Amino acid sequence: MNPILRLYFYAYPPSAPKADVGVLRFGILGAAAIAPPALVLPALSHPETIVHAVAARDLGRAKAFAKKHGIPVAYGGPSGYQELIDDPEIDVIYNPLPNSLHYEWTMKALSAGKHVLLEKPAANTANETRAMFALAKKKNLVLLEAFHYRFHPSNIRLKAILDSGELGAIKSVETFLGAPKGMFAKDDIRYDYSLGGGALMDTGCYTVNALRHFTSNSTTHPTPTSISSAQAVPPASDNAKVDQSTTAHIFLPAPSSSGPSNPDASISASLICNTSHPLKYGIFPMFPTINFELEGGSVEMYNFVQPTMYHYITVRPKGEEARTEKAYTFGKGKGVKSEGEDWWSTYRYQLEVFVDRVKGRDSGTGTWVEEEDSVANMAWIEAIYEKTGLGSRLASKYVHHE
Ligand SMILES: *[C@@H]1O[C@H](CO)[C@@H](O)[C@H](O)[C@H]1NC(C)=O
Ligand SMILES: *[C@@H]1O[C@H](CO)[C@@H](O)[C@H](O)[C@H]1NC(C)=O
Ligand SMILES: *[C@@H]1O[C@H](CO)[C@@H](O)[C@H](O)[C@H]1NC(C)=O
Repeated sequence: MNPILRLYFYAYPPSAPKADVGVLRFGILGAAAIAPPALVLPALSHPETIVHAVAARDLGRAKAFAKKHGIPVAYGGPSGYQELIDDPEIDVIYNPLPNSLHYEWTMKALSAGKHVLLEKPAANTANETRAMFALAKKKNLVLLEAFHYRFHPSNIRLKAILDSGELGAIKSVETFLGAPKGMFAKDDIRYDYSLGGGALMDTGCYTVNALRHFTSNSTTHPTPTSISSAQAVPPASDNAKVDQSTTAHIFLPAPSSSGPSNPDASISASLICNTSHPLKYGIFPMFPTINFELEGGSVEMYNFVQPTMYHYITVRPKGEEARTEKAYTFGKGKGVKSEGEDWWSTYRYQLEVFVDRVKGRDSGTGTWVEEEDSVANMAWIEAIYEKTGLGSRLASKYVHHE
């Protein structure tokens, strides 16, 4: 598809006719800015999803959001979130609340028998993450930490290239994700410690996740063997426990083909995350990158977070000509349930797999974010914060009684 059309449909996805039966109804907790790209737009083109309701602390805000996005029901006021969760029409709760509220409201949603699509990072702590998954398992419900980038064909292709052994084992990897300077105001929730703010929680959770994901073979969800350095830049003295950017250097266990990691080998990894990154030449935002050095060459992935906009994977085998690959869809004959469309966003691909999981179908993509993976990601974020001296975000005071 021509790139202009791809970008057009990415921004304005067409609506699919809805199935006569078996449509999943979603409720959104909070009128969050991420909700339209992450769920409202993707749901339009999925024949089995409808966004049924939104809740906000302020009913007026919920109503305005509902009106703007064609959502039939709005809940507000002090009991609004609970009313949304208790709405019998709703099958799935999408939780994009501030990080510090992820645990409480995910537990409440699961408790009410709802599947949960949970924004990343999963919670403020690994401990809370484990507790959420334990409840989901007990209730036989689907809980997914929304690491949407994983579900896009380009990132599945990148993982396949690395896992193929074509260039041998990974020796080192570095990744960068920075939101452009000026995107977030000083009073943004990202800079509020009491709400679980910080760059490592925000853009950083992707960098941690990507380093772990791409260096693990399918059966491993590695935790770091060591963190050699981590520096955080706090934005201001009044929220000194919040980082505006963090740089870390880590050693990861090198995966082996048969189960446990090889303790003798380790992968050197570095990450840079920033919620206020300078613009290139003062104009251009810098797209997220991840670069690998392997025994037999190197691999570069440009824009792994929003590959639908534009991306490339360049493979440079030692002593051979480089090649560049792109994958906007899975393509025919790849054994997936749905090939996808060029304009499908990472969130749309994620929704496809999420709905399949809820319905007990195999998406054929082989992609999911498992419990151990989400717990390990949170444990890493906490460990890196520990190393920076800022420490973990505050554990929730919510006590769940089941
Ligand atoms: C982890 O959570 C459990 C309850 O699930 C609690 O008893 C325990 O104290 C928590 N541990 C930490 C380190 O926060
Ligand atoms: C994953 O395991 C395969 C063997 O099954 C190996 O060839 C490959 O190098 C491993 N991937 C990484 C990233 O080390
Ligand atoms: C993040 O961006 C700020 C400018 O807004 C810059 O001063 C800082 O060095 C950047 N951090 C990293 C780790 O690149």
